[in-house]
Amino acid sequence: QEDVFKKIVSHCKEYGFVFPSSDIYDGLAAVYDYGQNGVELKNNIKEYWWKSMVLLHENIVGIDSAIFMHPTIWKASGHVDAFNDPLIDNRDSKKRYRADNLIEDQIAKYDEKIDKEVAKARKRFGDAFDESQFRQTNARVMEYQQKRDALHERYTRAMQGPDLAELKQIIIDEEIVDPISGTKNWTDVRQFNLMFSTEMGASADGAMKVYLRPETAQGIFVNYLNVQKTGRMKVPFGIAQIGKAFRNEIVARQFIFRMREFEQMEMQFFVKPGTELDWFANWKQTRMKWHQTLGFGAENYRFHDHEKLAHYANAATDIEFRMPFGFKEVEGIHSRTNFDLSQHEKYCGKQIKYFDPQTNESYTPYVIETSIGVDRMFLSVMCHSYEEEKLDNGETRTVLHLPAALAPVKLAVLPLVKKDGLPEKAREIIDALKFHFNCQYDEKDTIGKRYRRQDAIGTPYCVTVDYDSLKDNTVTLRHRDTMAQERVNIADLNGIIEDKVSI
Ligand code: GAP
Repeated sequence: QEDVFKKIVSHCKEYGFVFPSSDIYDGLAAVYDYGQNGVELKNNIKEYWWKSMVLLHENIVGIDSAIFMHPTIWKASGHVDAFNDPLIDNRDSKKRYRADNLIEDQIAKYDEKIDKEVAKARKRFGDAFDESQFRQTNARVMEYQQKRDALHERYTRAMQGPDLAELKQIIIDEEIVDPISGTKNWTDVRQFNLMFSTEMGASADGAMKVYLRPETAQGIFVNYLNVQKTGRMKVPFGIAQIGKAFRNEIVARQFIFRMREFEQMEMQFFVKPGTELDWFANWKQTRMKWHQTLGFGAENYRFHDHEKLAHYANAATDIEFRMPFGFKEVEGIHSRTNFDLSQHEKYCGKQIKYFDPQTNESYTPYVIETSIGVDRMFLSVMCHSYEEEKLDNGETRTVLHLPAALAPVKLAVLPLVKKDGLPEKAREIIDALKFHFNCQYDEKDTIGKRYRRQDAIGTPYCVTVDYDSLKDNTVTLRHRDTMAQERVNIADLNGIIEDKVSI
């Protein structure tokens, strides 16, 4: 599975989807650029989200707020004081880690040990092997289970504070070693704020420290009144936005899964207090359906309900997707109460209330938030679509089974040969279709090679223009997934394709 993931990463680079940032300077950690195909796929993901959230819901509108915001916003939201990760260094390797990650990996190691014991026993006892019975009676397995559960409990308690000295003590007691130096020479654990800051302006009294937003949500909260009043919005209603967010992640992991500059698609849904848990349940289902509509299989998604809630939330869940490195969070759905709006009321000194014309009462709305990372969604789409397919003739083709609506290029038009008017005919077809969807012209190499190039970027349709096309205005239409070919009229192409590729 790890191997497959490595292949996906290099495929992303080789085919113009994702490049390391500043590549010719050997990259910049946890920052990536989207290439010519990546940007199309990413735009299509954003359009798919925007249309389903904003266009299909009469009571949801969009905004695009600035990345720079008044610094007090981040004080009010709690990010200045509490948006931290516990950090620890190893003195020998000079490497920096998240203390929580080190301990979570240790918990996972106990699980691995248990799995190994189970696998050994299964080999010995064969088909009759009863795993649950074995887990309850095997002394070694029970010992690992006990150790794992005790560690999990201690860790959960330490994180609640968080108690930094206790986190370090756990690392010492568990004899956790640095994977690079192999030593246990750890520094103390300290809090590390994830917000990037910079300076704005240069007045006589000095410049103002401003932050790069670590979430787009606050831009929605501080515009709540503007939108509600000017849009004459009635609760329940939502505000959506897509935009960049920045976090100085301590450990960059897994390609575009955890980045320092990334993009979010967030929607804050403002509801009457007391109705928030119903709306939370409602949005959970709606968002899961949105993911499943892409056709990647319901078994590849699951909810992960949070047991431990942030102080402002009264319910939270993640939608996780099965990546090659396990089930991972792609989207979070949170019931954030009236925490953010009340905090902003306190800090800015202005009333942020909703006047309900039906009941004649004023209240601060409660908020259900849906928050999905564009880049993580992109990664899940790539991981699920990538296949090295063995063909009947013994060859292998690398194909991206992208949903047609998300594919960067919808149609490739390929003249059989570079002469006799075939290129001109191909251009004619593109000129007629390029206003409807993204087309690509390719005349280089054999038709077989050209098909493979389109398979590798997930183009759902190719048409080949041959000598008959000049006579009867038909072309061969080739379908990516089945590789089936059919003869169709050029005039019918738009009808056949547009319906399948439109978002
Ligand atoms: N406003 C709520 C919020 O920001 P979050 O769980 O911290 O919640 C929401 O982030 C989503 O943003 C995550 O589910 C993930 O898809 C994406 N995300 C968060 N940090 C990320 C990072 N460092 N790199 C890529 N995506 C990230």
